[in-house]
Amino acid sequence: MAIEGGLPLRGEAEIHGAKNAVLPVLSAALLCPRSVIRNCPMLSDVRAACRILERLGCSVTSGEESLSVDASCARGCGVPASLAGEMRSSIIFLGALLARFGKAQIALPGGCRLGPRPIDLHISGLRRMGARIIEQEDGLICSADKGLKGADISLAYPSVGATENLLIAASLAKGETILRGAAQEPEIDGLIDFLNLAGARLCREGSMIRAEGVRELHDVDYTIIPDRIEAATYLSAAAATGGEITLKRVCTSHLASILPVFREMGCRVEDSGEKVSLSAPRRLLPVSFVSTSPYPGFPTDALAPIMAASLLANGESRFEEGVFESRYLHVEQFRDMGADVRLDGKRAYVKGKPCLYASRLHCTDLRGGAALAVAALAAQGVSLLDELQHIHRGYEDMPAMLRRLGGRVWTLSSSLVRKDISPERGERAAITGFGLAPVPRIQGVL
Ligand code: UD1
Repeated sequence: MAIEGGLPLRGEAEIHGAKNAVLPVLSAALLCPRSVIRNCPMLSDVRAACRILERLGCSVTSGEESLSVDASCARGCGVPASLAGEMRSSIIFLGALLARFGKAQIALPGGCRLGPRPIDLHISGLRRMGARIIEQEDGLICSADKGLKGADISLAYPSVGATENLLIAASLAKGETILRGAAQEPEIDGLIDFLNLAGARLCREGSMIRAEGVRELHDVDYTIIPDRIEAATYLSAAAATGGEITLKRVCTSHLASILPVFREMGCRVEDSGEKVSLSAPRRLLPVSFVSTSPYPGFPTDALAPIMAASLLANGESRFEEGVFESRYLHVEQFRDMGADVRLDGKRAYVKGKPCLYASRLHCTDLRGGAALAVAALAAQGVSLLDELQHIHRGYEDMPAMLRRLGGRVWTLSSSLVRKDISPERGERAAITGFGLAPVPRIQGVL
C-alpha cells in the first residue's frame, strides 16, 4: 500500500462489524442448526473461521454483509494446524466442539506476536466442566464422554477468549455454570446476545456470568456490533492528520474510554448514539498517561493507533501496555520516520515532533500495522507499507476506507514495490521522490 501523507482526512465513513465480535459468534454458530450473521466484516480472520466451520462439515454462504452458517450436518471435531495456525481465535472452537460433540482435537492457535499467549484459563475452566484435556506440544486432545456439566469457575484474569470459550460451552452444559471474574468487553455481550437469541440462558451481572444449560439451541438471526477498534483507528488517523471526519454505524458507548483521550489531545469530539465526529487542531496536545486494561479500561488494541497520532503532539505523551507483554514491535519503524519514542518495559514515552517523514514500512502485527498506516498518513511524502496480510486480518478494505476519507492511498502489486523502490538507491530519498511524482502514473496501481 502506498500512502501519501500530510493531507488532512475529511469526510464520512461507515464502520464495519467488529472482528472480535464475529469470531466467537462463528464458533458458537456450530451449536445452532442455522445462523444468519449480519453486519459481518469481510476479513481474512473471518474467512479462516469459515474454513474451520467448513472443515467441520458446516456449509457457509456469504451474502451482502452477511454470512449464513448451516451447522446441522456438522460432524468432524478436529481443527488441524493448517487452519488453527491462521488465527488466534481458533482456540474458541474448543468449547463449541466439546459442547456439540463431546470431543475435540485442536492444534495450537496462531495470531499476532504480542508475547506469550497462554491458554491455561481456557483449559482449567473446561476441565472444571468435566472435560478431559491432554496437552501435547502442538495441540490439545479433549473429551467429555458424559457431556459437559455446569461448574462454579473463577477466572484469575478476565481473559476475553477464555470467557467466550467457557460461556459457549456452558450454554449446552448440564446444570448451572457461574463464571466469576469474567471479561466484560462489548464483544462478550455480543456473544451472550447471539447465544440467548438462539435459546441459551445466559445473564451477565458485571464480572459474573450465570449460564443455565439448555438441551439444544435453535436457528438464529443476529447482527454483529460495530468495531470499536476500527473506529478508534480512523479517529487516530483523523487526529494525526489535523483532519475532520464523521464515523457512522458506531456504538459510542463502547468508545467511552477512548474518546476522552482524543479530547485531551485537543480534538473536538461529538458523539451521539451511532455517530462520532472528530475535528483535530492544527497541532495535537500530548496525552498525559494512557494505560491499557480490560474493559471498561482503555483497550490494548487501540494503543498503537493512538500512539501513532501522539508522535506529532506538542509535548511528551506517556503510554503503558497493561494487558500483553509486548505490543511495541512497530515502534522501531516510528523512529525510522523521525519519531522520538523511548521504551522502558511496558511503558512508552513519546516526544512529539512537528513532522514525520515517509518511509518503507513493514506491518509487524495487526494493530501495529494499522498504527504505521496512521503515521504514514501524517508523514511528509509517500510511504510504502507491506506485509499487509496483518492488516487484512482485522480491517475490511482499509485502503478504500481511507480513500473515502480523502486519503491518498494506493494498493500496489508487491512485485512493483520491490522493483521500483530499491534500498540501494536510498529508501527515504526514493520514496520522497516518488511522492512528488503523481502516483497514478505508476503501472500496476490497482
Ligand atoms: C482478545 C482479542 C484481542 C485483544 C484481547 C485483549 C479477539 C479475537 N481478540 O484476545 O484483540 O487484544 O482480547 O482485549 O477477541 N491470558 C492468560 N491465560 C489465558 C488467556 C489469556 O494468561 O488462558 C492472558 C494473555 O496472555 C494476555 C491477557 O490474558 O496477557 C489477555 O488475553 P485475552 O483477554 O485472553 O485475549 P484474547 O482473547 O487472546
